[in-house]
Amino acid sequence: MKLVISLGGSVLMSDFPECKLMKDFAEEIERISKNHEVFVVVGGGKVARNYIEIAKKVNANNVLCDTLGIGVTRLNAMLFAIHIKSAPKEVPETFERALELSKLWKVVVMGGTFPGHTTDATAALLAEYVGADMFLNATSVDGVYSDDPKKNPAAIKYEKLKAKELVEIVSKGEAMAGSNNIVDLLAAKVIERSGIRTVVFKGIPGNIEKAVLGKVSGTWIEP
Ligand code: UTP
Repeated sequence: MKLVISLGGSVLMSDFPECKLMKDFAEEIERISKNHEVFVVVGGGKVARNYIEIAKKVNANNVLCDTLGIGVTRLNAMLFAIHIKSAPKEVPETFERALELSKLWKVVVMGGTFPGHTTDATAALLAEYVGADMFLNATSVDGVYSDDPKKNPAAIKYEKLKAKELVEIVSKGEAMAGSNNIVDLLAAKVIERSGIRTVVFKGIPGNIEKAVLGKVSGTWIEP
């Protein structure tokens, strides 16, 4: 299969600056790439949020803040690519270049592209562009909830959702630079229009392999 994985910075870089988890995720991606074509889009995590916060204090506009975020996602992507033998040590800045690199390499790792959304949307657009069979969204939460489970203990987790319902749920969230929605609105819309099989799940080592096998506990999005 052709797989696009959105690996949140808050997942991959959660033990920054030690970054021991990165090795585990890299090994998992290498194993998956033996049988599949893999694209990974890496997020910015806390470091991106810190940069954005500092810029906001001096009244930087959202596009500038997004640009800072993109820079951090690309740095994280290069660090992750360095951990993966079967990935080029180049972080593509466009979908075209990502596709080109995938003709030569089993794994392609990239970060963000342009302002106005998060790497979830970048990954969803990449999935559409390369004609992915599956879009795997590894996040800090174990699925899509009716409300933010960190703030509202009564929030319920959806095992399955129609793409249209996902769009309705995330429409309630905000679209500011560095915002912290489970999936951003553009990503949800792209998932809806592309009809690509999608799963949102907790990004811990081992779960990506389970997701590829259709066995992870998370929220499965149906067209
Ligand atoms: P992330 O994708 O990391 O956002 O991009 P996130 O929701 O904080 O995800 P985690 O924490 O990594 O899981 C960080 C910021 O970079 C900008 C946005 O401002 C985003 O909030 N960005 C990223 C873009 O503007 N365009 C992109 O393509 C990617």
